[in-house]
Amino acid sequence: MQTMTFFNWHENLSVGNKFIDGDHRHLIDLVNQLYDAIDKGRAESVAGRVLDELIQYTKEHFKREEAVMQRIDYAEFSAHKAEHENLTQQVIALREKFQRCEQDRATELLVFLYDLLFNHIIEVDKKLANAIQASASAS
Ligand SMILES: [Fe+2]
Ligand SMILES: [Fe+2]
Repeated sequence: MQTMTFFNWHENLSVGNKFIDGDHRHLIDLVNQLYDAIDKGRAESVAGRVLDELIQYTKEHFKREEAVMQRIDYAEFSAHKAEHENLTQQVIALREKFQRCEQDRATELLVFLYDLLFNHIIEVDKKLANAIQASASAS
């Protein structure tokens, strides 16, 4: 059976940093796995596992970004880290909601999840990627 892909990776998601882009691609991939599970009516058996993985991977990804921020002595470290904490809480809350919802609502939640990640990537992570680039060319 073909895997449905709803959330395509596209170039406007690229922040211009290899490691960050790679992590983000993986995150989008997990969102797609969730979409596929919902689409095939396997939300109950698959979504919980994928969401656990998504939460785990999100936490690891945030730690990697935060380590880079500390290494380059990033001025917006605290604000960015606070956003990560907020996002983590929202993804955990979504997991609860997914467990209790109907298929229609699940797709809605998925769009919400994608928007959360998308907005963080293009606004907050993009700034960080620019700072990484600036610090690399300065040293
Ligand atoms: Fe971030
Ligand atoms: Fe990120």
